[in-house]
Amino acid sequence: MPDCADNLPRTDRRPAVMRQNRRAFLQALGTMVVASSCGPSIRAAYSGELGRECPNGAHPVFGAAVRSDALRNDAPYRQAVTKFCQVVVPEGELKWATVQPKRGQFSFSDADSIVQFARSNGLNVRGHTLAWYAALPPWTAAIGSRAEAEAELVGHIRQTVTRYAGVIPSWDVVNEPIPDRPTSVRDLRESLWTKQIGPDYIPLAFKTAHACDPSARLFINDYDIEYEDARSRAKRDAFLALLRRLKDDNVPVHGVGVQAHLAGSRAIDRARLGDFLRAVHGLGLDIMITELDVIDNQFPGDEALRDKLVAEKTQELLDCVFDIVQPTGIVTWGLSDKYTWVPIYYKRQDGLPNRPLPLDRDMQVKPMYSVVSEFITRCGA
Ligand code: G3I
Repeated sequence: MPDCADNLPRTDRRPAVMRQNRRAFLQALGTMVVASSCGPSIRAAYSGELGRECPNGAHPVFGAAVRSDALRNDAPYRQAVTKFCQVVVPEGELKWATVQPKRGQFSFSDADSIVQFARSNGLNVRGHTLAWYAALPPWTAAIGSRAEAEAELVGHIRQTVTRYAGVIPSWDVVNEPIPDRPTSVRDLRESLWTKQIGPDYIPLAFKTAHACDPSARLFINDYDIEYEDARSRAKRDAFLALLRRLKDDNVPVHGVGVQAHLAGSRAIDRARLGDFLRAVHGLGLDIMITELDVIDNQFPGDEALRDKLVAEKTQELLDCVFDIVQPTGIVTWGLSDKYTWVPIYYKRQDGLPNRPLPLDRDMQVKPMYSVVSEFITRCGA
């Protein structure tokens, strides 16, 4: 069983702002689910103005992936994040390449700036991500044995989770473990971690994170599990089989992230996605929508029509999910179309900017926001 204390200095290495204000910060986080604002309509529901309270007292939270440079330099963006979000997720600031660009040299300044921004605005933070095949710094290519890979994986998770213990209450521990085209239900995506450690890298990552912050909710996160095609079916089957193995082995995994990078052109498999979610829920795992956006490169250029199609796709997904289970939250992968990863891979051929997110480039709400907001204020199954 991994132990968090090995190798760590005895002193608390969190920044002073986190140590000094931790109790107040945590108290704020504890009440935030029902108390903070998330845009006008959501604020109304939380304050009871609509007269609706969920039987269990908790609505799903709404939030978005954010970028530290944009938070620093773009005041309208910063204001939009504080106005609309209850939770923020560093989009890249907690990935290996940023946190440990050189072996053994940890750099948390970008992540800290997001945590401090969240703290001073009463927002929660989710951590993303501790074990992924991508965004690895070049030095990791020299890792050449199982023992070395285990030591590096454990060391990285210890440093990172311990730094934010009690401050980041929810982590995407393992990201995208299932290959795009699994050939069996035991198939895992090839990575440094599978090559050197094999499937054991997953329990190792979860056990290490759990040892370093026993109160944190630990998630496993993947994409392309929403559709009708054979690829998506195989991915769901392999994902569910992995979750069952982890639960059978008492691995401390608490939730599943349905990323929901929704391809406009692929049909959502309402029945089979529903079956998958029911099975996941039956395993006692939380479900969260962790990276929602709608990839609009195949949609017509007309903005109003495109925004409508993006909203409809969002509705299609959320209808399916909420029919089965109330997710603990809906996180979009970016808040405004001004800051989105989508054009990196899915630029439109007509040269028009992508519009995959709830707010436009001027921080104005789009129809997608209204859809998300309606589900956030709803009490699900
Ligand atoms: O920092 C440079 C910037 O200075 C430069 O102007 C810009 C030009 O393209 O590149 C910037 O860095 C890029 C960064 O995104 C910010 O846009 C990196 O090259 C690029 O690799 C990085 O991509 C990120 C990607 O993960 C890889 O880490 C995306 O932002 C991020 O949205 C994406 O997120 C992933 C999730 O972690 C996992 N699920 C899928 C999701 C989307 O691919």
